[in-house]
Amino acid sequence: MPGAKNISLQTYLFVNPKNFESNIFKEEKIKYILGEMKAIITGTGSYLPPRVVTNFDLEKIMNTSDEWIRQRTGIVERRYADPGIGSSDLATEAAKRAIESAGLKPADIEFIIAATLSPDHYFPGIGVLVQAKLGLAPIGALDIRNQCSGFIYGLSVADQYIRAGTFRRILLVAAEVQSSNLDYSDAGRDMAVLFGDGAGAVVVEAYDGQDRGILSTHLFADGRYVSDLWMEKPSPRDKPVFRENFIREGRYFPRMEGRSVFKNACEKMPEAVRIALAQNNLRVEDVDVLIPHQANERITQMVAKSLNVPAEKVISNIDRYGNTTAASIPIALDEACRNGKIKSGSLIILTAFGSGYTWASAVIRW
Ligand code: COA
Repeated sequence: MPGAKNISLQTYLFVNPKNFESNIFKEEKIKYILGEMKAIITGTGSYLPPRVVTNFDLEKIMNTSDEWIRQRTGIVERRYADPGIGSSDLATEAAKRAIESAGLKPADIEFIIAATLSPDHYFPGIGVLVQAKLGLAPIGALDIRNQCSGFIYGLSVADQYIRAGTFRRILLVAAEVQSSNLDYSDAGRDMAVLFGDGAGAVVVEAYDGQDRGILSTHLFADGRYVSDLWMEKPSPRDKPVFRENFIREGRYFPRMEGRSVFKNACEKMPEAVRIALAQNNLRVEDVDVLIPHQANERITQMVAKSLNVPAEKVISNIDRYGNTTAASIPIALDEACRNGKIKSGSLIILTAFGSGYTWASAVIRW
């Protein structure tokens, strides 16, 4: 069947169940069984809302200073979405750019994976909203809730689906609108200065070759640290869910044990990268580009130092966007592709750490 390699096995069989018998299907199936199919990223895109909020802007509304923020975090400015704009809107723009850069049309996408901690609604997640906004057929849409590690968790899911032959073209998008729920009082100023809004997306496709692709993903979690970085309320455990005293106590805001997060991020990200390198028989010297989750410039520097990766191989854009949680890695990845830091054949390492705690790494031969 001409063009069989360009559609997913699921679509192929759905269109004509007789394809079970065809030689082309057998040939493809054998490749999947032998693990010869790889998942590759064929397109990247990002979208940042246009409104720039500098540290000096924050000085005007809260008890902080540009000097404190720069020294402790490396952040100079971040973007805030305007009222009425949700993470699904940012995600849709990033998705369009990723699909275009893959040389595809939205209708070519067979499955959506969306990662966010700031969905437009309590439910449903943003995957279905992105699907509707892109005008797609009723393909599946899966939501990932792994906060700062959400993009790598999503990448791992996409990789498994592709290598299993379930789908051939997956849109993975991560987006956050965090600016609408930050506590600018002294109780929340440690977090309020860190976070920004934005979205990043990739298209993950099946590739019939060995020279490139996602080589591994490693996912970790330790739920004992849930309350170190969380938004405790609203919680359906409370009846009623919304209460005056919780508002007064600031419990509908995100909260963080900054020092514990800092220490664990500096330990867990390098650990996840070392495990990934060992599994792939690679050395730190083989790494061309390291993209850590953009949490804090000091954390990025500690991770690079711990791994002995030189600064010129490390991607950092936290000065311009702050911490965009799930979106930070795909935004940095997109910028690195567009400004030529990532080239064909580059060995890329992604690593993330965040609420849960969850942490993760991925190794990609570009
Ligand atoms: N502006 C000015 N002062 C602030 C402030 C702000 N935005 N936030 C906190 N402070 C104050 C504190 O109140 C404290 O004052 P005190 O000494 O009078 O009590 C002082 O600064 C030091 O606070 P501390 O929490 O000890 O600072 P720190 O050196 O630990 O740095 C963080 C704070 C948040 C920058 C740091 O803990 C950190 O980066 N943690 C990891 C954060 C992160 O990456 N989170 C997301 C992970 S995905």
